[in-house]
Amino acid sequence: MPAPRVVALVPAAGQGVRLAAGMPKAFVSLCGRPLLWHCVHGLLESGCVEVVVVAVGEQHRDQARAVVAEAGERVRIVTGGVHRCDSVRAALHAVPDAEVVLVHDAARCLTPVSVIQAVVQAVLAGQPAVVPVLSVVDTIKQVSPDGRVVDTLDRAALRVAQTPQGFAADLLRRAHQGASALVTDDAGLVEALGETVATVPGHPYALKITTPFDLVVAEVLAGAKATGQA
Ligand code: C5P
Repeated sequence: MPAPRVVALVPAAGQGVRLAAGMPKAFVSLCGRPLLWHCVHGLLESGCVEVVVVAVGEQHRDQARAVVAEAGERVRIVTGGVHRCDSVRAALHAVPDAEVVLVHDAARCLTPVSVIQAVVQAVLAGQPAVVPVLSVVDTIKQVSPDGRVVDTLDRAALRVAQTPQGFAADLLRRAHQGASALVTDDAGLVEALGETVATVPGHPYALKITTPFDLVVAEVLAGAKATGQA
């Protein structure tokens, strides 16, 4: 039997408002290359992703095509939507024959290949939905809209969710049929269906580059990775 078709979707149509770099975050430079370039190359380097579909704003399609040009036919560019879930849905429509789908934020462009492989392996082993997670080191307070603490959550039971998140393609398609813009990750849509979501260990390198501070941290991490120090 041939191996199932594994496809990665990269929502990269955000404006990057919190990074305030004057351009969409996916095109911001990290060690001389756009975040999108690092993200796509990480996915292809994992050796377990056949095709990558990148969703960007309509006006950035040519720019995205140029960034990933060296990957050739293995990368497709589609137009994203207003919300992250719209962008994921647009990318999903471009690969109707996919059997396993990863959804990976362009902003998590330093995710180690080992995490990508672990997510794919877990889905291929029969888990219909898989999320890489990290333990929470801080104490987490729940606060009211006016800033008063209403609860201290048990951090032992909490995890930070990262990407790539991996899914049996049919389940992800079903989850996106009723997608709410308020849900911030794809596993959340699967949870809303009442389906089980499994976890695998995430990695600090899979941080989501969101603020100028994150970009400084990512430059250091990428430098350490390039020189074999991490
Ligand atoms: O806004 P946030 O940081 O949560 O976005 C996470 C990812 O989703 C980013 O990679 C961003 O480019 C992408 N996104 C998208 N389409 C949108 C909004 C965000 O592809 N409309």
